[in-house]
Amino acid sequence: MGKPPLVVVMGISGVGKSAVGHELADRFSLDYADGDDFHSEANIAKMSAGTPLTDEDRWPWLADIGVWLHEHDADGGVISCSALKRAYRDVLVDAAPRTYFLHLTGDHDLIKSRMEHRDHFMPASLLESQEKTLEPLQDDENGWAFDITPSPAEIVDAFAARAGLDQEDTA
Ligand SMILES: Nc1ncnc2c1ncn2[C@@H]1O[C@H](COP(=O)(O)OP(=O)(O)OP(=O)(O)O)[C@@H](O)[C@H]1O
Ligand SMILES: [Mg+2]
Repeated sequence: MGKPPLVVVMGISGVGKSAVGHELADRFSLDYADGDDFHSEANIAKMSAGTPLTDEDRWPWLADIGVWLHEHDADGGVISCSALKRAYRDVLVDAAPRTYFLHLTGDHDLIKSRMEHRDHFMPASLLESQEKTLEPLQDDENGWAFDITPSPAEIVDAFAARAGLDQEDTA
């Protein structure tokens, strides 16, 4: 039996990272963190105003998420983080090489309607810029994409099957 899973739930805003991340962490009794909580006040103010973050805004945020992953290498954990570009994911993998990515993808209108029905600092207007920025997982990356039509529990089932996890892998 390997170490407990260490997973980044990634994807554009509103795709369900927090919902699926919580479900995955609960299922395997792992620590959970929300990448949103690692943003500086300046970054949150920018996003709240509908201004996309630049790479310079994102590097320190990604470094902090990398620290969290590194600290959870032994016991595993789940963190949600958009990780839109390959270069962002490489920062995380450099910090914690055994990290898996669970990429959530879905129909634009479905995501938009889900975003419009929740209370969160991310305005639905940022969706388009996030979709333009997104670089899907490449073949040599450790992870897979899952469609968000099914429930969070079903997405976790699919990920667990694909990653070869079973309930015995809990911490
Ligand atoms: N698979 C799903 N089925 C139905 N509703 C979902 C699903 N996943 C997420 N939701 C709902 O969609 C909304 C957006 O999900 P969530 O907040 O988890 O997205 P997010 O990716 O964490 O967004 P952000 O990047 O802005 O933090 C929430 O109201 C959530 O409850
Ligand atoms: Mg979230």
